[in-house]
Amino acid sequence: MSNYHIKHLEEYYQVYRKSIREPENFWEEIAEEHFIWRKKWDKVLEWDFSKPEIKWFQGAKLNITENCIDRHLATRGDKTAILFEPNNPNEKAEHISYKKLYERVNQFANVLKENGIQKGDRVCIYVPMIPELAIATLACARIGAIHSVVFAGFSSTALSTRINDSDCKMVITADGSFRGNKTIDLKGIVDDALESCSCVETVLVAKRINSDINMKEGRDKWLQPLLDSASKQCKATVMDAEDPLFILYTSGSTGKPKGMVHTTAGYMVYTAYTFKNAFQYKENDVYWCTADIGWITGHSYIVYGPLANGATTVLFEGAPSYPDFGRFWNIVEKHKVNQFYTAPTAIRALAKHGTELVDKYDLSSLKVLGSVGEPINEEAWHWYNDIVGKGKSPIIDSWWQTETGGIMITPIPYVTPTKPTYATLPFIGIQPALMDETGNELKGNQVEGRLCIKYPWPSIARTIWGNHQRYKETYFSAFENKYFTGDGALRDEVGYYRITGRVDDVIIVSGHNLGTAPIEDAINEHPAVAESAIVGFPHDVKGSALYGYITLKETGESRNHDNLKKEVNQLISDRIGPIAKLDKIQFTEGLPKTRSGKIMRRILRKIASNDLNNLGDVSTLLNPEIVENIIKNKL
Ligand code: WT7
Repeated sequence: MSNYHIKHLEEYYQVYRKSIREPENFWEEIAEEHFIWRKKWDKVLEWDFSKPEIKWFQGAKLNITENCIDRHLATRGDKTAILFEPNNPNEKAEHISYKKLYERVNQFANVLKENGIQKGDRVCIYVPMIPELAIATLACARIGAIHSVVFAGFSSTALSTRINDSDCKMVITADGSFRGNKTIDLKGIVDDALESCSCVETVLVAKRINSDINMKEGRDKWLQPLLDSASKQCKATVMDAEDPLFILYTSGSTGKPKGMVHTTAGYMVYTAYTFKNAFQYKENDVYWCTADIGWITGHSYIVYGPLANGATTVLFEGAPSYPDFGRFWNIVEKHKVNQFYTAPTAIRALAKHGTELVDKYDLSSLKVLGSVGEPINEEAWHWYNDIVGKGKSPIIDSWWQTETGGIMITPIPYVTPTKPTYATLPFIGIQPALMDETGNELKGNQVEGRLCIKYPWPSIARTIWGNHQRYKETYFSAFENKYFTGDGALRDEVGYYRITGRVDDVIIVSGHNLGTAPIEDAINEHPAVAESAIVGFPHDVKGSALYGYITLKETGESRNHDNLKKEVNQLISDRIGPIAKLDKIQFTEGLPKTRSGKIMRRILRKIASNDLNNLGDVSTLLNPEIVENIIKNKL
C-alpha cells in the first residue's frame, strides 16, 4: 500500500503510527516508490544526536533536478511548472512549461560550468522574485554546486557576510528589482558588498529593470547572451544522498548568521512528501506560496516540493499592496489558485483594509489556505478562514523552521479538524517532545514546555557551514539526545500543539527571524552609542516589532534625539536591511543588569509590552533604580 497520499484522519493515525514504529521501513517505502534514483541506498538511516551526525539514504545516488524536472517531461512536458506573475499587473504573466524549464535550467547550468563552477563550489544567488531566481537555484543543483540564496532585501553588509562565510566563487544577481512602484538598485548593493569579498570571481547579471549599471571588467557579465548561446542539454551531475544541496542563512540569538546546510536525498523526499499532503495537491491544481525564495519557505514550497510533485507553482514578483491591497485576491482569481500559502503578517496587513477588496474577486478556486512563519492570532485566523476561505477552505497553520527543511506540525487539510491558533498534529514521521526547564519530558496532554524533536526526520539540517560545534551547541545541547527548536509550545487535551513563540533572543518580525545580537552590534557602531538592548513587543500587523533601549556616551547626550534615531535606523538598514529597523527607540541612562553584567532583556521585554505588573524581583539587579526610570520614560 502506498502511504504517499493521506486522505482521511484514520489513515493519518495509522500511517503516523507506522512512521514512528518503523521509521526506516516507512521512509524507505516512500523513497522507493516516488522518486528516481541513479542508485538506491545501502542504509536508510544512521544517526547520533550527541555528535550530532545524521545520514539518510547513505550510498544512494541521484540528482534532485531529475526528480523535479526530467521525470515529468514524458507526462507533463507541456504543463506549466512555473507561473510567473510580474510586479506590474499589466505585464503579461509567463507560463514556463516543464519542457521549457528543462531547457532553461540546462542552459543556465552550462553557463555556470563555462564560468568555472564545479560540483561543491558555492554560488551566491541574490536575485529578485523573477524566473531566473528559481532557474539559477535549479541550475546549481543540476551540476552539484551548492547554492546560497540571499534574500534580495538584505543590505550589502549582510550580503558580504554571507558570501564570505561560505566562500562563494560566484554571485548571480540582477540589474535591479521592482517592488510596487519602486525600483531597487540590486547591482549597486552587490558592488558595495564585493568591496570586501575577495572570493568572488564572477558576477552574472540578469536584466530586469533596464537600468544603467556599472559592469566591472573581467568580473561582471550579462546573463542573457551567455544563456542564448548555451546548449539546452546538460547532463545532471550524479550526487551522493548526503552531498550538500544548499546553504541558507538564518539568524541566531548571538553572533553571525548561521549557514544551515541541507543535503540532497532526505531534503528531497521530505519536502516532496509534505508538499503533497499538507496542501493536498492534486494534478492540475495551481499552487501559490507568497514567500520569497530567499527564505526556506520558498526553497521548499515554491521550488523543490512542488516541482518534485510535477505541480504548477506560482512565482510572484510583487507586493501585496501594489497596485492596491487586493492584489493577492486579484492573482487568485486570475490564475484560479487552489492552494494559497502566506504569512500571518500579510493576513493582518490585508485585514486592515476591510473586506471589499476581497469580495471584489472570485475566490471560489481556493481549496486550502496555509499560514507560516509565526503564530497566527485568533483574529487573523478567523478573518482568513471566514473572509478569504468563506469557511470552506481549511487553514493549515504549519509550524517549521529553516533548520527543519520542511513542515513539521500542521493540520492536513480535509483530514485534520482545524482549531484556531493551533498547528495541531505532528506530520508523519515527526516525534515532538515538550520539556520542562530541568530537562524532563512532559508526558501526557495539557502540558506546556519547550519544543524538541526526539527522532531524526529526512530534511533536518545536517550542520552549520564551517561550524559544526555551533550546530551542536545551538540545537543539541539544551536537552540530551533531542533537537531543540528554540520555541515554546503547549499540547492540549486532544494532543494538538499550539506554538507559543520563541524562548530565546530571536524575535520574529513580520515573519522574519531576527536575532537581537546583530542588530545591537549595528546600533553600537554609532559613535554616540554606549550600549543597546533590543526586545520585541506586540504589534498588530507585524506580530512583533522591535523596541530599542539605547544608552548614549556622554558626548552623545547633547545631540538631537530625533536625528540620532534616524541615524540608528539607517545604520541598521545598512548593516542588516530595512526589515530590522526599530519601531521605537528609547534613550535611557542605563540598562538593567545582573550582577554578572548580563542585560536583563526579560524586564525590558515586559516594559516594552506594557506588562508592568509582573516584572519579577528586580532587587537583585546591579542597578534596580534604572527600572523605575525606564518605566517613567517609556514610549
Ligand atoms: C521560526 C522559524 C518555516 C518557514 C518560515 C520561518 C516561527 C514558523 C510558525 C507557526 C508559530 C511559527 C517559530 C520558528 N514559526 N512557523 N506556524 N506558528 N510560529 O522560518 O525563519 O527559520 O523561523 O518561525 O518561532 O522557530 P524561520
